[in-house]
Amino acid sequence: MSKTEIFYNPIGVIHSEHIAAEKTPIQPAYAKDCKGQAEIFPEFAAGLQDLDGFSHLYLIYHFDRAGSAKLMVMPFMENIERGVFATRSPRRPNAVGLSIVELVRREGNVLHLERVDILDGTPLIDIKPYTVKFDCIEKTRNGWQDNIDEQTAQRRGRRGYDG
Ligand SMILES: C[S@@+](CC[C@H](N)C(=O)[O-])C[C@H]1O[C@@H](n2cnc3c(N)ncnc32)[C@H](O)[C@@H]1O
Repeated sequence: MSKTEIFYNPIGVIHSEHIAAEKTPIQPAYAKDCKGQAEIFPEFAAGLQDLDGFSHLYLIYHFDRAGSAKLMVMPFMENIERGVFATRSPRRPNAVGLSIVELVRREGNVLHLERVDILDGTPLIDIKPYTVKFDCIEKTRNGWQDNIDEQTAQRRGRRGYDG
């Protein structure tokens, strides 16, 4: 089996109010009132055409402050180690982050966003529109997360963030 190196150039940078990883909500679901912007570099700005009609976007980005990768990690929501691929931990072999954020408006090459769970200055790799036609799955199994009650999820998910 061959091992291939992959290089990506960022298409932009994410700005947010989050400067401390441990105080940043762990998902957009727990990041109500967390505003941010995706600033797209001018050479990619033409690709933003037609994005305005979508209310939600996938942001794909590089966890540039993640630390070394681990195959077993402690999820933020509980105190039992899990395989990293069964979690959203930043400490992954490939430090790729994925957040579904709300697109409030676009101003030229700047996307104004809500529900941002991403540190300020994070390099942005890609944007894709979230769409109900492709992405909305009605019936799911949610692994170890099915055992976590909503109150615990909210408390741990917001990580003390109070706006
Ligand atoms: C559990 S991860 C989930 C991120 C994303 N929604 C996902 O599922 O890939 C969220 C945490 O990643 C950390 N984080 C955010 N941006 C980061 C960055 N640029 N480098 C390292 N860690 C980051 C913050 O501590 C935040 O609470």
